[in-house]
Amino acid sequence: MRQGCADGDRDLERRETALSSLRQLRAGARRADPLRPARHGRDPAGAGHAGRILALEEGHFPYELSGELETLGCESYGGRLETAFTAHPKLCPETNELHFFGYGYLAPYLVYHALDAKGAFVHGAEIRVPGPTMMHDFMVTRDHAIFMDLPVTFNLEKAIKGEIPLGWDPDYGARIGILPRMGADADVRWFEIDPCYVFHPMNAYVDGNRVICDVGRHEYMWRESMNDFAPSYLHRWEFDLERGTSSMHDFGRSAQPGELVFAEASDSAGEDEGYALGFVYDKARDASDLVILDASGMAQAPIATIHMPRRVPYGFHGSWIRG
Ligand SMILES: [Fe+2]
Repeated sequence: MRQGCADGDRDLERRETALSSLRQLRAGARRADPLRPARHGRDPAGAGHAGRILALEEGHFPYELSGELETLGCESYGGRLETAFTAHPKLCPETNELHFFGYGYLAPYLVYHALDAKGAFVHGAEIRVPGPTMMHDFMVTRDHAIFMDLPVTFNLEKAIKGEIPLGWDPDYGARIGILPRMGADADVRWFEIDPCYVFHPMNAYVDGNRVICDVGRHEYMWRESMNDFAPSYLHRWEFDLERGTSSMHDFGRSAQPGELVFAEASDSAGEDEGYALGFVYDKARDASDLVILDASGMAQAPIATIHMPRRVPYGFHGSWIRG
């Protein structure tokens, strides 16, 4: 058992202690408790980095797997990781750094981290946000880390009442924070945007002074209940770092995609030489397609569409790890 497991257990104990009074108030409530830190993630994602395979679930520390998918143990990087580890870290193909973050319903609400190419923990910086939001994913460019501070918030008063504590909070506002990679809170530039929710971005890159972000945008999320959410459509934000302005582009309402996974065409492939794979829900068929796109020509017709016999639930994760 790794040292990280003991650290992970202490982290869980800290969270358990902080929430014990809430649980007592909720005793008898039959509904599942989304705040409760499960000891095993139910929908883990995978990441390959520095010769290791990590199983990730955004509420917890990473667990390392062997090549035979045996659990080797959880990892806290010698105690330096004190937050959860997102299920969507970003591997830089140029530096082989792994950038990631952790969010939580207790402060610090957001912490930005990075591992170097050898897997050493080299960066941890709290990013100050107004409150506890559910931050499922983020973006990086060659130069930036980009955080989405959006109005799906944790509400402890609801938790005390025995209600689902996650929900749409339009009063929270919505903003995008852009900072240099390996930067700190003082480096963040915040851009106000229209309220919305994004589980998964598709891409982000720099074009001159502008940062371009293509995302799957929901008009609202979990408004009256967790079944009350708008469909996701492709959407583009453009942030002008010189002028401090932003604009957006709506790609149209033709698909309800989940997250896309990039599979490079070869070891020597350029940045967008490869394939984008993702599940797209077809409402008319009430089933999903696995769609394979040319990543260098995303507007073109798919290279292949594999019709699944049934619907793949939103939130199902996949990863591409070269063998
Ligand atoms: Fe996800």
